[in-house]
Amino acid sequence: MQGIRVEGLKKCFGARTAVEGLSFEVAPGEVFGLLGPNGAGKTTTVRMLTGLLAPTAGRASLCGVELPLRSDDDGVTLRRRVGLLTEQPGLYDRLSIRENLEFFMRLNEVDEVQAWKLAHALLERFDLAGREDEPVGGFSKGMRQKLAIVRALVHSPEVVFLDEPTSGLDPQSGRVVRDAIAELAREGRTMVLCSHNLHEVERLCARVAVIKNTLRSVASLTELRREGLALDVMVEGEAAAWVKALERLPFTVGHQLDGSRLRVLLDREAQSPDVIACLVQAGARVHSAHRAARPLEEAYLDLVREAGDAS
Ligand SMILES: Nc1ncnc2c1ncn2[C@@H]1O[C@H](COP(=O)(O)OP(=O)(O)OP(=O)(O)O)[C@@H](O)[C@H]1O
Ligand SMILES: [Mg+2]
Repeated sequence: MQGIRVEGLKKCFGARTAVEGLSFEVAPGEVFGLLGPNGAGKTTTVRMLTGLLAPTAGRASLCGVELPLRSDDDGVTLRRRVGLLTEQPGLYDRLSIRENLEFFMRLNEVDEVQAWKLAHALLERFDLAGREDEPVGGFSKGMRQKLAIVRALVHSPEVVFLDEPTSGLDPQSGRVVRDAIAELAREGRTMVLCSHNLHEVERLCARVAVIKNTLRSVASLTELRREGLALDVMVEGEAAAWVKALERLPFTVGHQLDGSRLRVLLDREAQSPDVIACLVQAGARVHSAHRAARPLEEAYLDLVREAGDAS
């Protein structure tokens, strides 16, 4: 199986640039997170990578198909190899589960026998078995979302894009969907997950791209957190003296003092003892010190904050 390679992808809508300068790679078997605030360009990116929207510039290749698409045949190949859960489930309300799935299978010319085998297993797993002949217009939001996920997966795609897969799902269904995503990745499929749920991202993704109309970062979660290693120290004494001493340390990235709570930002974990020694030598009374866990949320917010924006 082949993964995804994106190079300098850009999309403009009239005068507005929705995304530009997107470059990243995703390996088969990886769950890659696409993060960014509302309007950052995540859905636009997914639509370009699934052949629904022509890029303004740049290119990509996924599961052996080049974008921009070169022919209608390439479009068909792409649709067969790629699974997509869109932001809105986009189901036909008057059709039943069976008819919705059948329509999708015929449109994409997939092997229906194989696809139905998988569909039945997925419907069972997502608690929709037994409802196959009801019109989906009468389904709850979560049921529709689960059916849309089944539809994205029935043709056993090599690459799967899931735009907010667990939005609207109850905790139990959310877990079932997350387990399914992890399992699909273990099978060697390439998974791209757009999500605002950072806990979900932490559970599923090893690497993420953070975008806000431009690419802010492509990194592993470990790298993202490491950028902000911090030591929280409860200190007492003459602040001016130890602040000066801290500034002389070659490895401290910065510090914040809030009453008697001092946060020292480091560039490596092993430096904590040196910071304590430095503070003590400078006359500080150290009451406690602990490594401040840097949640993904903090790293993410730093990346998407505008330069000069203090919020
Ligand atoms: N068809 C379109 N026509 C004009 N502008 C569009 C179109 N689609 C997207 N945009 C614009 O592109 C930008 C990115 O939108 P997009 O839907 O990709 O964001 P998103 O990251 O998916 O946001 P959300 O988290 O809210 O889903 C927005 O400014 C949006 O208004
Ligand atoms: Mg979106």
